Amino acid sequence: GLNQSGGLLDGALQESSASIIGSNGASEVAVANKLSIIYGTHTGNSKLIAEQFAVLAEAKGIDVSLTSMPEYKNRKLKEEKNLLVIVSTHGEGDPPASAEDFYNYIFGKKAPKINQLNHAVIALGDSSYINFCQTGRDIFNQLKSLGSNEVHELIELDIDFKEQLDEVLPALANKFAGSSSTATNPLVRTTNNELNSDEWIEVEVLDKVLLNGRGSSKKTYHIELDIEDTGLSYLPGDALEIRADNDDKLILSILNQLNIPEDETIEADGDTKKIKEALKTGYEITTITVPVLKKYAEFAHNDQLSAILENKSKLADFLYGLDFLDLVTHFPVSLEAKDLPAILRKLPARVYSISSSYDYNPDEVHVTVGAVKYQLNNRDHFGVCSSFLSDRINIGDHVSVRVKKNEGFRLPSDDTNLIMVGPGTGIAPFRAFLQQRENNQASGKNWLFFGDQHFQTDFLYQAEMLQYRKKGLLSNIDVAFSRDQEEKIYVQHRLKEKGELVYKWLEDGACFYVCGDMKNMAKDVKAELLNIIQQYGNKTKEEANAYLKKLFTEKRFQEDVY
Ligand code: 2AM
Repeated sequence: GLNQSGGLLDGALQESSASIIGSNGASEVAVANKLSIIYGTHTGNSKLIAEQFAVLAEAKGIDVSLTSMPEYKNRKLKEEKNLLVIVSTHGEGDPPASAEDFYNYIFGKKAPKINQLNHAVIALGDSSYINFCQTGRDIFNQLKSLGSNEVHELIELDIDFKEQLDEVLPALANKFAGSSSTATNPLVRTTNNELNSDEWIEVEVLDKVLLNGRGSSKKTYHIELDIEDTGLSYLPGDALEIRADNDDKLILSILNQLNIPEDETIEADGDTKKIKEALKTGYEITTITVPVLKKYAEFAHNDQLSAILENKSKLADFLYGLDFLDLVTHFPVSLEAKDLPAILRKLPARVYSISSSYDYNPDEVHVTVGAVKYQLNNRDHFGVCSSFLSDRINIGDHVSVRVKKNEGFRLPSDDTNLIMVGPGTGIAPFRAFLQQRENNQASGKNWLFFGDQHFQTDFLYQAEMLQYRKKGLLSNIDVAFSRDQEEKIYVQHRLKEKGELVYKWLEDGACFYVCGDMKNMAKDVKAELLNIIQQYGNKTKEEANAYLKKLFTEKRFQEDVY
């Protein structure tokens, strides 16, 4: 049966599942397939989808078992009949930490022949990355190479996947049930609504403070939002999705370049809107994804663009930092207003780690936002949401938000010691952790590693952190200011200096958290942590890896990286 989500199956649904089997006239034997669903993502999205699919599949008489990837016994693979893998991809095309073990197993020497197996894969990803859904694709293809039969082609879900699910999941359930019926169970909508239950709410900006001092090359804002009487709540580690509007100047430059009048109207989402308004709230124009470039190239009939699309390594460099104005300026095209919604990606909300604790202050939610601004093609480029929050939103304005749960980044029990590594805006969830621990009067010790460019201007939340140090809530704090001296000093260098003590804390049961830049910082910190485990634990490389893996499965090593 449904191992982990029994709560989703109420009596009514069970009755209706029985009647579906009855009305199809199919015998139990024909439909009572066994299906294993295994899932692995960082945020818990894969689990939600797995649970939603399990309800659908059970309604079709399939005997479902749900397992998270870290809990899945890999050697079961050679006995499975039907397998659904639901997995996300990390930014650079790597498996998320929770999927690494399964991934390595099927690609490793001990991978079994699995001719007995039928499989499908739901790949989660973000099409703004070149290696969109790469992990899911790898797993899908590797299962095939090992002899398994695909029951459905690879399913790729972009970050706004919730709408796609309505179509995809019933079709997949039919495939596993061996039926071609497209009838869907009306009750499933309820579950779907449950997945979508976190409605957007409008909240007022109570305060907005620039955390960097004069002369800093960075702009990092602390923003406080009013959630009193909204019913919104969150846990330390959760993130906040914020909907941003595009910059009017950028929109007008694009329309101007395309010779489209800003007041021309189009039909979008069953509504008639001025193109200017549709672009402002509905479509992404500050980044170009591969699918967007492909559609654009079809309109532009440009050989150079087609060549770039053919060459994956060139493509990444080409798209890096590019916005839609660059595209329409450098690769002229003749477009009508109505073509734009067909080409552009829907504007996804941006996600920020919450930097406050609900229990500590239930009336507010805080975020720590680094303004993204860079030069390209002799013009300033801005991140859509960070520029919205830093340049276009002020105290008293309202923004549309909802909470994004982050089950992979949670505080342990109050008596557990914490090591927190969070340079730059990576400090955000640790401010929330510290507030929570102050609120709980938690007895566990707290050790923060923070880093940024300059002590004078970039020590985010300096006064608060030093106050926590004085009060003893922070028992240890180590800072790395990378540009205050000749050679770069980063958080991992401070970790290395304190390696012996770090290892002792781990041996005594501490939890280790990393938040911030994924591409460089988090990788380097993890490598240094492995060195420390090797050196102070007298371990081989393999043993150190196993030690870290154990920390991971015990949820004592957790990352929130982006
Ligand atoms: P830098 O910009 O001087 O190189 C927060 O952004 C801090 O993280 C900055 O001090 C930045 O240093 C630093 N940083 C950049 N790359 C890093 C890496 N690979 N590991 C750790 N910190 C890094």
